Amino acid sequence: MKTQIAIIGGGPSGLLLSQLLNRAGVETVILERASRSHVLGRIRAGVLEWGTVELLEAAGVADRLNAEGMVHEGCFVTDDELMVRIDFKALTGKTVMVYGQTEVTADLYDAQDAMGTTILHEVSDVSIHGGDTEAPHVTFTHDGMQKRLDCAYVAGCDGFHGVSRKTIPAEKRQEFERVYPFGWLGILSRTAPANHELIYANSPNGFALASMRGPQLSRYYVQVPLSDKPEDWSDARFWEKLKSCLPSEVAQTMETGPSIEKSIAPLRSFVSEPLRWGRLFLAGDAAHIVPPTGAKGLNLAASDIFYLHQALIEAVRGDTGGIDAYSERALARIWKAMRFSWQMTTMLHRFEGEDSFAEQMRRATLLHLSQSETARRELAENYIGLPF
Ligand code: FAD
Ligand code: DHB
Repeated sequence: MKTQIAIIGGGPSGLLLSQLLNRAGVETVILERASRSHVLGRIRAGVLEWGTVELLEAAGVADRLNAEGMVHEGCFVTDDELMVRIDFKALTGKTVMVYGQTEVTADLYDAQDAMGTTILHEVSDVSIHGGDTEAPHVTFTHDGMQKRLDCAYVAGCDGFHGVSRKTIPAEKRQEFERVYPFGWLGILSRTAPANHELIYANSPNGFALASMRGPQLSRYYVQVPLSDKPEDWSDARFWEKLKSCLPSEVAQTMETGPSIEKSIAPLRSFVSEPLRWGRLFLAGDAAHIVPPTGAKGLNLAASDIFYLHQALIEAVRGDTGGIDAYSERALARIWKAMRFSWQMTTMLHRFEGEDSFAEQMRRATLLHLSQSETARRELAENYIGLPF
């Protein structure tokens, strides 16, 4: 097989890149390890920055998003005493869109099918060869047969556990990492959301987040020890814990019901630099991970793709300036989102074994947020997304 751009990974990064390239007349093939139903069943991010929405519009995949997505003009940050509203619209003139990653991914698959793009699912043994040569190729197993894909460039969009990053020789890359000593237990339930806007809660019982996917579909998270398993958490135990972390007026009136999904995600900050090795480029979770507290994971994947699709279109037309600048351009934005996600995580979680000073710092941060418009604007500016 032969194509212009071989894309490893059919998650949001790989699909969006392929869609934008195909619309510019650039040919792609996507190799995805999992089945399509597996990819579409993974419940993950829920908040889209406005820049992400605009990029999805430019990719021609925003009709359902604009019809069904929920525009949010603000969110709440709380502790057991204060409930501070961050008014994105008033502070920045911009808003965010609540629309699940599963839906973004489904819309992208529909659009790619309509384009007739080759997407191979359940491929294994993916291996990238000659990444630092003029003629890279990818080998893999599909339908029990060993296959080869020749290409001009390879886009590594295969997530944190993929092969692309590891293909870059260890001495050519530098990794930065912080692992947090807790995870998020998330559930989805067919209940009305606890509040019309998201609530990020720091309480003496730990962190909780009240989010949503629709008028009758709620998404909630609570902070749990890394040793916990979803099976340790009955629905009753989850609701009790969640209510103990949310402001009491919200907890008292909120609807509860059976969970329809329950999973635990560890929290990590990670960056691998640079994002390029010869003709191999990394984008999205293949290159970096943020803790979910700032809702930046999916949005960072989208901004990488914004830079990378432009660079690759120019490159296939003979201008390599964009691919030469890609890593530096993307990393400048990545590190700012890293800082924001780390700061939100530190501000809102209880760390096992922390000293009493840490709690005072969280309390003072929230008090300052409640009293300073400048502090609220700083949070809002980062939350709605820094410019591409
Ligand atoms: P992925 O979505 O990981 O997609 C990579 C794809 O590559 C996958 O489909 C995978 O199957 C495939 N792949 C992997 N290895 C190979 C291989 N060797 N060959 C071929 N294909 C391969 N972000 C938020 O903002 N908010 C959240 O609440 C949130 N929750 C999350 C919960 C979990 C459990 C995880 C893992 C992530 C979460 N994120 C969240 C982060 C967000 O979902 C990611 O940033 C986003 O999915 C990145 O998209 P991606 O396409 O780069 O990577
Ligand atoms: C959701 C997840 C997040 O990490 C976040 O910061 C906001 C919302 C969600 O799944 O809805």
